Amino acid sequence: MTIRKWKYEDILRISELEKECFPQEPWSYKMLASGYETENFYGLVADDDGEIAGYGGITLAYDSADIDNIATSEPYRHSGVATAILEGLLDYARNNGVKTVFLEVRVSNSAAMELYLKHGFCGAYARTRYYSDGEDCLVMKKEM
Ligand SMILES: CC(C)(COP(=O)(O)OP(=O)(O)OC[C@H]1O[C@@H](n2cnc3c(N)ncnc32)[C@H](O)[C@@H]1OP(=O)(O)O)[C@@H](O)C(=O)NCCC(=O)NCCS
Repeated sequence: MTIRKWKYEDILRISELEKECFPQEPWSYKMLASGYETENFYGLVADDDGEIAGYGGITLAYDSADIDNIATSEPYRHSGVATAILEGLLDYARNNGVKTVFLEVRVSNSAAMELYLKHGFCGAYARTRYYSDGEDCLVMKKEM
């Protein structure tokens, strides 16, 4: 398994994984492609001999950054894929002068919250009924 930067050709497979991993609100191919083309975007994939096991992206804005999405394809879960991607994104942010990293997570998503808590994120504030199905969002932040 290799952790490497997103390539444009990865976006189609990532858009399929979005539907599996975020069935309620997947990012479309178009949204992913437009994020990828943003100047301050940096994305990583976990590449298992050509198959994308997981992916994540971060967008930098001066000294802060937002993690856009992070997900692991179901057969690859619980083997450290998201950890490797998250650590790669945080290293990139740190090396580029970012002081605070933010992300959004559904309040029911305890697996993701566990992952983020382990990496020094804490709850910052909530956005009530933020998602289209009415679920609340917790904004988490990490001071670098
Ligand atoms: C959340 C998600 C990204 C974790 O991916 P993963 O590659 O399985 O994670 P890792 O193997 O790196 O696990 C790291 C830590 O996360 C936590 N974790 C992962 N899956 C968990 C689960 N099902 N329940 C509780 N904690 C979990 C654990 O603390 C784990 O550490 P441990 O292995 O020492 O127990 C994955 O479940 C996923 O893609 N979910 C759907 C998409 C999603 O919700 N993304 C996050 C959006 S904010």
